Amino acid sequence: MGETSDRLRTAQLPAAERQSILKKLIINHDRLVEGLEALARFHMPVKGGVHDTGCVSAIVGDSRTGKSFAASAYVRRFPPAEGEKGMIFPVLLVETAPTGGMRPVLENLANALGMLHSQRMNNALLTNNILEGLKYHQVQLLIFDEFQDVCDSRNIRLAVDVKRLLRKILNLDTLNIICIGLPETYQILANDKQLVGRGGLQHAHLHPYTWDSDDERKSFRLLCDMFDDGLPFREKSGLGSVALAQRLHWVSDGTIGKLKNFLFQAGCLAINDGCEHVTFEHLAMAYSAIKPPKTTFNPFVDDWSLKPVEKTELLLSSAQRSLSKRSVAHA
Ligand SMILES: Nc1ncnc2c1ncn2[C@@H]1O[C@H](COP(=O)(O)OP(=O)(O)OP(=O)(O)O)[C@@H](O)[C@H]1O
Ligand SMILES: [Mg+2]
Repeated sequence: MGETSDRLRTAQLPAAERQSILKKLIINHDRLVEGLEALARFHMPVKGGVHDTGCVSAIVGDSRTGKSFAASAYVRRFPPAEGEKGMIFPVLLVETAPTGGMRPVLENLANALGMLHSQRMNNALLTNNILEGLKYHQVQLLIFDEFQDVCDSRNIRLAVDVKRLLRKILNLDTLNIICIGLPETYQILANDKQLVGRGGLQHAHLHPYTWDSDDERKSFRLLCDMFDDGLPFREKSGLGSVALAQRLHWVSDGTIGKLKNFLFQAGCLAINDGCEHVTFEHLAMAYSAIKPPKTTFNPFVDDWSLKPVEKTELLLSSAQRSLSKRSVAHA
């Protein structure tokens, strides 16, 4: 009853507010729970215990699987607090910088700690100040996001420097570190014996949802249904049904980020149309807008049985087709 009146209320809101609801939808789905549990475990191994120290862990996953989102949600659980000596930052999230060498990495850390720094401070001094700052502000957990960027094989010097910094921070033995990044992040850390030695390198992998098992299909359908619950329309759109969820899975590769973008775009079309819910037509239009060039299959228009097995195959086969057309033309 409450749910129905909520739907009615949001469906009647002005267009700008409905657009904003679409954009800001937050879904408490399986992978988010997995990510949050891993963060909690790597921070405080005993529930209700104290924070651990001296260990580095990794949370890795393909792009758009919700890693950064989970990290930000976790950080919000530990807001800064005023301590006797100064501000306490229990959990800090720092983005690593892909260009500019070690300096921006240090500056991002200093900024996260609210520390003043100037160009006159050399890297060694800035590093010392950061180490002092981490102790002073009682940081328990330091999370580096986009970690693969600083350990690019094209910039070996930076990778060596960053790993040395990590070891220095861990040697304080006052906090743990979590590195978040693309799947290669794990290997980057695993190749460093000294880092692995500091905690054994626990890790969690946030996988895209697959369509290969009952459990995974159920989880993905539930995710689609949760989106459906949050959409600002008078009626639900049946997104959790097998037929729609399977097509949404194909479109999104099972990642929350792509699914969210796609449903936002389809939802905007449905609001513009003044519809009571999102229809197959809106989904078809939204897919047309993102469909890779030189492909024809649209899962919301064409017979599902005609779908290419792999999207890469679809691109490949159309590339091959045009190649063979060209060779016929040349012959
Ligand atoms: N639980 C969620 N509910 C709603 N939206 C989410 C959720 N998790 C992630 N998103 C959205 O999905 C998109 C991708 O998420 P995120 O940036 O966390 O992915 P990522 O794994 O860090 O990707 P990358 O490796 O490319 O940085 C973002 O726009 C984010 O807002
Ligand atoms: Mg990210």
